[in-house]
Amino acid sequence: MRRIAIINQKGGVGKTTTCANLGAALALSGRRVVLVDMDAQANLTLSLNTQPMSGSLSSYSVLTGGARFGEALRNTSTPNLSLLPADIDLSGAELELAAQLGREHVLREAVEAWEVDARQADGRAPADYVFFDCPPSLGLLSVNALAAAGEVLIVIQTEFLALQGMSKLVDVLKLLKKRLNPKLEIAGIVPCLYDSRLKLAREVLAEIRGYFPGKVGSSVRSNVKLAEAPSFGRTIFEYAPESNGARDYLAVAREIALAESRDPDLSSLPPIAGTAPRPRAPEVLVSAPIHDASGAKAPAESPAEEPASVPIPGPSAPKKTESKAPAKKKKVGSVRPPADSAPLATVVLAPKAPPPAATAEEQSTSPDAFQALESGARRG
Ligand SMILES: Nc1ncnc2c1ncn2[C@@H]1O[C@H](COP(=O)(O)OP(=O)(O)O)[C@@H](O)[C@H]1O
Ligand SMILES: [Mg+2]
Repeated sequence: MRRIAIINQKGGVGKTTTCANLGAALALSGRRVVLVDMDAQANLTLSLNTQPMSGSLSSYSVLTGGARFGEALRNTSTPNLSLLPADIDLSGAELELAAQLGREHVLREAVEAWEVDARQADGRAPADYVFFDCPPSLGLLSVNALAAAGEVLIVIQTEFLALQGMSKLVDVLKLLKKRLNPKLEIAGIVPCLYDSRLKLAREVLAEIRGYFPGKVGSSVRSNVKLAEAPSFGRTIFEYAPESNGARDYLAVAREIALAESRDPDLSSLPPIAGTAPRPRAPEVLVSAPIHDASGAKAPAESPAEEPASVPIPGPSAPKKTESKAPAKKKKVGSVRPPADSAPLATVVLAPKAPPPAATAEEQSTSPDAFQALESGARRG
């Protein structure tokens, strides 16, 4: 069972859109997928046409011991796709967990208990993929997701200052790998909201490739259908299966699935084809479905517009940035290549422009992340 945290401490970069539609693409390709909403804004929950209701079973209940992971899952309208919803209660979870011993591991323990129970009862893992949709911060909720995950998928918007704050994220990932979760790997980087007509977007994409050599996969183009679909509570495959958004997320799903061969649970799954297979009958992951399964149409053929990635980082030699852009490009943030060859290499940014004031949506690392890691380290 692959457990993947979708992260970037910036808001509005496409994490939730990626979680919903990458999850749906994998589910429509016959994988059993669970999405975990770890953001109190509950955007993922709403995107999947589920009402966030304070007091009902949710990620908050799981984190605070009010529910087991499996019993809080809900089916969605996409076959094979389940959701652990969030609600506004989650906004208090960090405070409530703050004094708790082992607070960074609560989610991991809940997921592991769910997996152990399923393996004992059914002889197999309860799902093929679990995705955690992280909030726009590196606080305790994100740390819980990163501790529960085996892999990280970093979503980056191909815009001005896209890489700003990235060295902080990479540092936190390194620290987590060292102290909390030694198996944590970067599954890949997904550039989102990409507009190849814009020189700036092309330059930023080159910067991102230079920053994460060998890890950057297919880009997800800016596509209005992707922005419209959540307002109808639909995935892109239900709302506009012929759109570029559907094609792009199917391409990302194919790349993510390339690493299935390394997971004994998933190694026998067939590769994802250029077109999504027709949805099979939903496999019931939870007992009480709240939606009817819809007849989601398969998306059209998916021409990947970027070359496939090597999804997991290895100890590759640092590589210089590929960007050839002139001085103007420096506004984006010049990038020095990684100084070492650790799997989660530290990369140092040397921004020419001062960072803008953080908005509520663009928080940087909260002290919680480091407090959590430090206390974890103290406990050994
Ligand atoms: N590729 C895309 N094309 C057009 N709009 C997008 C795309 N990806 C995301 N959006 C829109 O951008 C906004 C932010 O995306 P979201 O996935 O919620 O970001 P995050 O979870 O990182 O905060 C949302 O309104 C979403 O619908
Ligand atoms: Mg989000």
